[in-house]
Amino acid sequence: MFRRHKITVIGSGATGATTAHLLALKELGDVVLIDIQEGIPQGRALDMWESGPIEDFSMKVVGTNDYELTRGSDIVVVTAGMPRKEGMSRNDLLKVNAQVVREVVEKASQVSPDAVLVVLTNPADVMAYVAQKASGFAHHRVIGQAGVLDSARFRTFLAEALNVSPRDISAFVMGGHGDDMVPLVRYSYAGGIPIEKLLPQETIDKIVQRTRTGGGEVISLMKSSAYYAPASSLAAMVKAVLWDERRILPVISYLDGEYGERDIYVGVPAIVGGRGIEKVLEVDFTDDERAQFKRSVASVRDPLSMLALT
Ligand code: 2OP
Repeated sequence: MFRRHKITVIGSGATGATTAHLLALKELGDVVLIDIQEGIPQGRALDMWESGPIEDFSMKVVGTNDYELTRGSDIVVVTAGMPRKEGMSRNDLLKVNAQVVREVVEKASQVSPDAVLVVLTNPADVMAYVAQKASGFAHHRVIGQAGVLDSARFRTFLAEALNVSPRDISAFVMGGHGDDMVPLVRYSYAGGIPIEKLLPQETIDKIVQRTRTGGGEVISLMKSSAYYAPASSLAAMVKAVLWDERRILPVISYLDGEYGERDIYVGVPAIVGGRGIEKVLEVDFTDDERAQFKRSVASVRDPLSMLALT
């Protein structure tokens, strides 16, 4: 018999709330929105639930401050923590968010021991590592969100330059979710045609740079962190897991020897399905791409060692 999925979203800020609403709109499961702030998750969840008769979804959305209500979740999305403000790097959030993520994941994993964890809180690569340690879950059941968002930005800018639908752009970004992330131009296609054949190098270089600073561009415009595209990225990852889609997505995954790296979470292409990360895919690098990836990995190792986690 079909059983509805249960999804917990931790953090009822802009990203968490937008994600919860998208999950309900896409009918991916009943949603529990949880936060330490009293009233906010309850109010936001009620408001979303009340959009159901108009939007035509049957899923329930509830808000709470009590982890007991999240018991038995199939998937837990972690958005809790401080967002980035203008002039801050994602690593400026390190200590405070590590504490928040550790606490919420300990509580959530106790009552949902079989869940898959999807972590968005910044710095996302490090927070995925923190979340795995705090839950004690198998590494493949803890996934970080960054590459789906960064690649969506990359695809949007490529589509704009080519004046074509972003749906036809296939491209991905690897490495840490920081300004030295690695958009892989050589593996980017528009309708199956390599973009290097369609756009001048100068245009591609500008797009690569804009992608790397895409999060900062939104912050400089509205003085707060992006949340629509981040929430869409989370919803796509939740769907890939709950529907066992086996999608190839750029996600923050644990590496145990892949790409010559061990004991780290960082962005790589992977097959995402019912077990979480089903398989990390290894792509060939040019010397320059390898150097860029190594540099980006190093910028994830630094904060990890600051937290004395490795
Ligand atoms: C971003 O890139 C929030 O880090 C996220 O917008």
